[in-house]
Amino acid sequence: MDLRTYGQWAVVTGATSGIGKAYACELASRGLDVVLVSRSDDKLRIVAKEIEHQYGRKTRTIRADFTDGHSIYPAIAEGLQGLEIGILVNNVGMSYFDHFACFLDVPDPERKITEVINCNMLSVPQMTRMVLPDMIKRGKGLIINISSEAGVRPQPLLSLYSATKIFVTYFSQCLNAEYKGKGINVQCVAPFMVSSNMTHNMKANCFVKSASGFAREALNTVGHSSYTSGCLSHALQNVALTVLLPDWLRMSQFLVRKLQRLDEVITVKRRASEEEKKLREKEE
Ligand SMILES: NC(=O)c1ccc[n+]([C@@H]2O[C@H](COP(=O)([O-])OP(=O)(O)OC[C@H]3O[C@@H](n4cnc5c(N)ncnc54)[C@H](OP(=O)(O)O)[C@@H]3O)[C@@H](O)[C@H]2O)c1
Repeated sequence: MDLRTYGQWAVVTGATSGIGKAYACELASRGLDVVLVSRSDDKLRIVAKEIEHQYGRKTRTIRADFTDGHSIYPAIAEGLQGLEIGILVNNVGMSYFDHFACFLDVPDPERKITEVINCNMLSVPQMTRMVLPDMIKRGKGLIINISSEAGVRPQPLLSLYSATKIFVTYFSQCLNAEYKGKGINVQCVAPFMVSSNMTHNMKANCFVKSASGFAREALNTVGHSSYTSGCLSHALQNVALTVLLPDWLRMSQFLVRKLQRLDEVITVKRRASEEEKKLREKEE
């Protein structure tokens, strides 16, 4: 569908890398001007230039750290003033730790809990209430909320992350029911693995999607689905997991222990390859 019919501008949170950057580029390639919201001015400038050069669209950047909580929203609202915002992509999100771990097994859990909740949960309704009134006035608008497969079913060893993502899933579905009649589409996207910083830039393959490939396929589902895995590969994985890994098995001590062991092996391998890479870079 022609996404420009929603309005001139799209706003993307967490837009300087990974899925957010891919959505921003894809939306620009489909003719929308883009507001990029992220925490690093340097990265924002680079992505904005890239979009302007490559797609000839206008950009606006807003620096905000979503872990800071409610204090950041007045400045974001000011940055959005006067724009006809047709699409909001609530993409920003962070994991609780860089690998699978029990709830207390992270450094400084007190700080981390607040950061993850502020970033993954608070950002979604706060950004939504800023753009929604104007969308309702115009009788059209699209809000895309990036949840996760870990927000479809409970995922032990990602407990806080998984819980924040089910919040995004439920919020999206309820909001869609409330505002559909006013011309607003709210879509919840629940991906499996996408190659990005969050997933240590693992190689894309038939299970792991590239961020750009994912955003392209996911945007093609707009207008057809208010809840999606985002791409065919992830939809098939969702079906397979439902059949092969029922909740009683997923939540069992047996599987949690297996996952912990597997994670230890993967983490050791990853750290060794990172060290190797650093050494090679030093030698060069
Ligand atoms: N990758 C996956 O496999 C996967 C699977 C399911 C769901 N998701 C969800 O998809 C979304 C995007 O994930 P991703 O993999 O693309 O992550 P990513 O590569 O780590 O990118 C995250 C983006 O958000 C920005 N960001 C991070 N923390 C921020 C903060 N506190 N304030 C402002 N901006 C911040 C980052 O900016 P900096 O560059 O400055 O860090 C970056 O632009 C998340 O909601 C994630 O939960 C990802």
